[in-house]
Amino acid sequence: MAVDGPSGSGKSTVSRRLAAALDGVYLDTGAMYRAVTWAVLQAGADLADPDAITKIALETELSIGTDPSAPHFAANGINVDTPIRGAEVTGAVSAVAAVPAVRKQLVALQQAIIAGHPRIVVEGRDIASVVAPDADLKVYLTASAAARAARRSAEDATDVAATEAALARRDKLDSSRSVDPLRVASDAVEVDTTGMGIDDVVAHLLSLLNSKV
Ligand code: C5P
Repeated sequence: MAVDGPSGSGKSTVSRRLAAALDGVYLDTGAMYRAVTWAVLQAGADLADPDAITKIALETELSIGTDPSAPHFAANGINVDTPIRGAEVTGAVSAVAAVPAVRKQLVALQQAIIAGHPRIVVEGRDIASVVAPDADLKVYLTASAAARAARRSAEDATDVAATEAALARRDKLDSSRSVDPLRVASDAVEVDTTGMGIDDVVAHLLSLLNSKV
């Protein structure tokens, strides 16, 4: 199952719950871009230099957890679960994810992981359109900007207005980049989760999947 959408749309929580309900695995492709971004920042590379970013991305060895109850991530043998969620990585990840060679490398890795798991829920921005165009079900989760900001700021105890501005900035960068921008795939089912609880979203998506397979 492919689950795409902007930040704060509920993708991660919903995807993990779906994977567990299906007795399958979960792939958080955003965490992969975040782990590479962490390595780029550690190396002190210039975020405006795509060649420098590409070099570090190619040198970085990633370990990607797929357990929906506890996905852990490492870069070059170092656990990065905490720093990849920090403000520094969040502020830089869209720039790193816009570099074509980084996307090429990570999409190939994502496709290799998917090939090894017949039951997998994959979340990201370009899963339906690029990474897994043959997915059984393609979902595009969305929610109002206010609802998304409220969810994120409840998660990390930040100011709602500042969170809404940061989400808008990242959405704009992710939707306007030239390679594989965030968009709704033509055959994706769009689900607006504004005002919906997690249980309702998960139940709705499971019924959509059951009607497809
Ligand atoms: O989903 P998450 O917020 O963790 O994603 C972090 C960033 O990684 C996104 O803002 C986007 O720049 C990038 N990303 C991407 N393609 C994906 C998943 C994430 O470009 N499939």
